[in-house]
Amino acid sequence: MTQMLGAGVPPTVLPVAESAVACEPEAQPQAAVESDGSRPLRGCFVTGTDTEVGKTTITTGLLHALAQHGLRVAGYKPVAAGAVWQAAASGTGGHWYNEDVEALHAASSIELTRSEVCPCLLEEACAPHLAARLEGGRIEPAVLIAGAHQLMPRCDVLVVEGAGGFCVPLVESEQFSEAPAMSEAIAATPNDTDWGTDDLAVALGLPVILVVGLRLGCINHALLTAEAVAARGLRLAGWIANRIEPTMPHAQLNIDTLTRALQQRHDAPLLGVVSYRAPVTAARVAEELDIDAVLEALNLRA
Ligand SMILES: Nc1ncnc2c1ncn2[C@@H]1O[C@H](COP(=O)(O)OP(=O)(O)OP(=O)(O)O)[C@@H](O)[C@H]1O
Ligand SMILES: [Mg+2]
Repeated sequence: MTQMLGAGVPPTVLPVAESAVACEPEAQPQAAVESDGSRPLRGCFVTGTDTEVGKTTITTGLLHALAQHGLRVAGYKPVAAGAVWQAAASGTGGHWYNEDVEALHAASSIELTRSEVCPCLLEEACAPHLAARLEGGRIEPAVLIAGAHQLMPRCDVLVVEGAGGFCVPLVESEQFSEAPAMSEAIAATPNDTDWGTDDLAVALGLPVILVVGLRLGCINHALLTAEAVAARGLRLAGWIANRIEPTMPHAQLNIDTLTRALQQRHDAPLLGVVSYRAPVTAARVAEELDIDAVLEALNLRA
């Protein structure tokens, strides 16, 4: 079972069973996966050329732009690593704080709880499968998949933010063999291989939007990521150039090269060029996205 850090329980008294990754197979919401699984998800899976390239920033901008277009939007961060306990101002209770979860929670236009936005919040800020191991458990893929399907009936568009880059391990093969039974949701995955964010994207079946953090090396990272997306049978719906470095030399030439290459090789259009801004807000990002191109790319036109 994957479970969020216990809301309302400060870390000092957090029992093992309420830690982020305590794994109880009977708690897997299999029924929800089966019953909702027949209804395809609408939205996109936002991945990036690396960690810290602006996935959350762009995800909130996409949510803002789509909400402005009159759509009910929900942000979903299946796995987040790095949480600190934030006590309530009243002195009693509080919640686990993670920047990505807070940002997606705030940018969603429907009422969501933090654990609906992120069903697997891990305390340690490191690679998710390692954070899970450090907490004495493992991430449960079925919970991550079910969480997306549970949000879908309540919104028009689900915008899912991956973790790190496109191929980040979430469960290592040894962890599968420790599990009493492999969930149906991942039965197609041989249990002698790892299961990661790429497998999650395949399980959700959403079109992928690639955030390219503009810096030296990004062309290679973008093309490799696009190939990995295509190799898994997913559609690269488009990409967004994010100017994370205010003074990157020849940024426009990099954008031109990627625009040509991603269009030619993957039929993936450029959906926006986001300027370096301090501070950067969802509304400002939304202004720089081509909402018509986004709607077209995600097949969201009425
Ligand atoms: N266009 C921009 N202008 C200025 N700062 C930006 C821009 N885009 C992102 N940033 C900043 O860069 C940092 C990383 O962005 P963000 O958290 O969105 O990345 P991420 O890919 O979601 O990271 P992670 O892999 O940790 O989830 C943040 O401090 C964010 O405010
Ligand atoms: Mg993020």
